[in-house]
Order: sequence, then structure tokens, then C-alpha cells
Amino acid sequence: MTVALENPRLLSLAAGFTDNRTLPVAAVQAAMDSLAARSGEPEYLQYGANQGRPALRTLLAGRLLTHEPRLDADAVNRGFFITNGSQQALYLAMQVLCDPGDIVLVDRPSYFVYLEMLAGLGVQARSLPLDEAGRIDVDALRRLLEGMRARGELQRLKAVYFVSYFSNPSARSLEETEKNGIAEALAEAGAIVSVVEDAAYRELYYETPPAALSVLSLPAWAAFPRLYLSTLTKPFASGLKVGYGTCTDAGLLEKMMHVKGHHDFGTAHFNQAVLEQVLAVGGLDAQLAVIRPVYRRKMRLLHEVLTQGGLAGLGWRWQVPGGGLYLWLSAPADIDTGLDAAFCRACVEAGVLYVPGELCFGDEAPRNFIRLSFGVLGEKDLAEAGGRFVAVAKRFA
Ligand SMILES: Cc1ncc(COP(=O)(O)O)c(C=O)c1O
Repeated sequence: MTVALENPRLLSLAAGFTDNRTLPVAAVQAAMDSLAARSGEPEYLQYGANQGRPALRTLLAGRLLTHEPRLDADAVNRGFFITNGSQQALYLAMQVLCDPGDIVLVDRPSYFVYLEMLAGLGVQARSLPLDEAGRIDVDALRRLLEGMRARGELQRLKAVYFVSYFSNPSARSLEETEKNGIAEALAEAGAIVSVVEDAAYRELYYETPPAALSVLSLPAWAAFPRLYLSTLTKPFASGLKVGYGTCTDAGLLEKMMHVKGHHDFGTAHFNQAVLEQVLAVGGLDAQLAVIRPVYRRKMRLLHEVLTQGGLAGLGWRWQVPGGGLYLWLSAPADIDTGLDAAFCRACVEAGVLYVPGELCFGDEAPRNFIRLSFGVLGEKDLAEAGGRFVAVAKRFA
């Protein structure tokens, strides 16, 4: 991002930002007007509760219950909280659950900012194994857990984390059978550790909502402490930085809120009040109706530029996602896409940035993956950036 800001000619397929052109200015303006027009004291400009504004919590919990109607509404409400972005909740959870030297199982690939945070806390990431088709390999996970037991590591395993819907970076969603398989392997190993399901992109499907239920509803996870996290940054406005979650374990929630009190003693109250107003008048669904087709069109555009540029013929592979902000590309095995590699430098020289896939692995990072984001750029720049990328890939073929 620093490089991009210093050189305006560079086009970024790297930043995981949302699109400035579709940010909901009118909805935010209307929400602020209606707050200002309220009689009584402007409580929304005062500090709020550490766990979040009660009415916004109720609205968001209600929304989660529409996705997962079999959930116990009281339990969801009791465990509900609002944070300064879901990033804060991830940090709170890891700080509370882990000590330096502990181990967390992570999806492969995984959200690289989370992986950096683990490293910063001195916590080791261990990848959930995949089969040839890229799905969770439950038998390999059983063997991994057995190996950990044999090496005396199992008691240091404190949590399992995955981005389950239109993942950052892979754009893949986990199926219920995969989530269940992880729970079964952990339960068989006697490792009833906390699970953190990061559902940041769940609402950002293009046409069809993802079918899989979360760990909150799946019986295989019933015995585990479960933390479900999501955010209003991607589906509404990243700048308001409001995330949310619900936790099935009262002790874990209490500890997280205790640490949160040290961070901020309350998520930005005005931002929550704005969002409460937006949700109350159906503004989130209206915004989603605007952005879903826009991101779909931009994804297709980038996909077409890569396809028509002949990238597949050069041995590059990627899936067409059903939601999210990313294309996840694998290059031929002999192309090193790492941060310090010639390919990456050639892309910067050609005026296009990407996220090296090597950053997105908890361990044993391959060096031939790339994350491209189509969130930020308008269509013209997106086509230009894709073209520059293809031109570099051709030079390295
Ligand atoms: C998978 C994932 N989780 C969490 C976050 C954090 O989001 P925020 O703190 O903006 O809610 C992001 C942001 O890019 C993300 O991609």
C-alpha cells in the first residue's frame, strides 16, 4: 500500500479494500440526519457499553438468526458483542486463548493479517491438511493430531481458526462436511479447543447465499467453545470499522470483554449508532443489493482478462468464485511469486501490485500462489491492471 501511495501510476490488485464508488454515502447521510433530528440528549456522542450498543446487538443477532434459524436466540443474544472491526475480536480471542509457544490450527491458505498477528503473539500456526481437490483432509488431520500427541504438543493446541465463506485469500467456502470433519477429528483426539469461525465475507455472495451453516448450528461442534465473527466493514462501509460476533462460552467472552476494556472500553459509539439506524431501515440489504452485482461484474472482468490473455495456457490455475473480493491464482511450480522474487519486482515495474501467496500460509508456504483483489479498482483500471499482470506472466513463461 505504501508503494502504491507513492506511485500513482501503480495499479493495486493487492489491497483488500472495498470500492469507493459504491460506498453508501446517502445511507450514512440519512442515518446521521435522523440521529441529529432526535429529541433528547445525543447519547450517541457519548461513550457506550464495552460489549456494544444493545439495540445494534439485537439487530445483528436477529440477522444471524435469519441465516441460522435453528439457533437458540437467547444464547446468541447473550453471547453477542460489537468490536472495532472483526480484526479487534480476532486479536482479543488470540490474546485470551493463547500464550507464546501455543499452537493454533489454521485453514490453508489463511487470512495473512491473522497469521501475522499469531506470529506477533509468539503463537505457532499449523495448517489444516487438504486433499488433492483442496478440501479438508480429515484422515490427514487425524494423523497430524496423533503426531502432535506423540510429540507432546497436543496440550499446547489452543484453537482452530478458519475463514469459512468466500475466504480471504482463496475465495473458497468450506462445506458443512469439511467443518464437521474437523470437529470429529478434534473430538476423537480429545482436543476440545475453541473454534474461531471468521465469516467476514458471508454476506458478500454474488447471487446465491452459501449453503453451509456455521459452527454455531452444526451438532458436531456442540461440545466446543465457539466464537463466530463477522463484520459490517466489507458489506457496508470499511471506514466505520464495526465488527461483531457471538460466543457460546461465557468464560471466554468475559475474558475477551475484560481485555477489550483495556483496549477501548467501548467500540466507537457514533459509528454503531449510524449502523443501528441503517439496519433499522433496511439499509444494509439495500447496500448489498447494490454491491453484489458490482463485485460480480468486476470479478468476471478480471477473470476474462486473465483468460483471454492466455494465462491458463501458461499453466496458471484459478477458480471462479461465487462471492468475495479475490481471485486466488496458482502459478506453474517453477515461478517464484514471493515478495523478494524477480516476478514480484517485474510486476511492480510494470505498474501492478499483488499479494504474494507465501504470506497466506501458516507453515510450509509454497512460493507459487498469488492473491488478486478486484475490490478497489474501477473497471477500466482493473482491465489495465489485469493486462499488465498477464504481460509479466508471459515474460516468465
Ligand atoms: C478474513 C478476514 N477477517 C477479518 C478481517 C478484518 O475485517 P475488519 O476488521 O475490517 O472487520 C478481514 C479484513 O480484510 C478479513 O479479510
